[in-house]
Amino acid sequence: MADNEIPIRAGSERQPLHASITAEQISDLVEMFYERVQHDARLAPIFKKHVPGDWGPHLDVMKGFWRSVLLKTAEYDGRPVPVHVKLGRLDEDDFRAWLKLFDATVDEVFEPGARALVVEAAERIATSLWLATNGDLLARPPAWSERD
Ligand code: HEM
Repeated sequence: MADNEIPIRAGSERQPLHASITAEQISDLVEMFYERVQHDARLAPIFKKHVPGDWGPHLDVMKGFWRSVLLKTAEYDGRPVPVHVKLGRLDEDDFRAWLKLFDATVDEVFEPGARALVVEAAERIATSLWLATNGDLLARPPAWSERD
């Protein structure tokens, strides 16, 4: 398809996931979440190995990523799958630990109506990263909501 034939997307596709979500909340989410990650027994060693020094650039990338997902700003142009594949095998419990911290942070930052939508978005991405990193694309993904 030639460039000038690419259909213009309907405006509704660019709507935030929920009207209450703000860039400031996303900034708080990312800062609080990665502060907790750095104190989590399971996750801290993995992150320490790959983000050994200044967390500033990582936090900036993550804020852009979450603004793209939640506010549909389309500013993130990275590729999370190869980044996580390079981390080596991440198992189901690594993802459960990640999602548990993420959920708790979401509950503190977002309005009630937005929380489930943000968590669902994270679970969807966790599933694709889990499928990509566990090496078996035919495996049945875990049901994350059963994690507690
Ligand atoms: C087991 C769970 C996870 C672990 C241990 C993990 C670990 C990491 C680490 C260490 C990095 C930095 C890599 C580097 O800069 O060298 C990273 C980047 C990233 N992670 Fe995760 N992650 C996990 C799950 C997730 C989930 C569930 C999401 C999304 C919902 C996510 C989204 C991202 C994104 C967007 C990046 C930035 C990729 C880029 O550089 O463009 N991660 N992750």
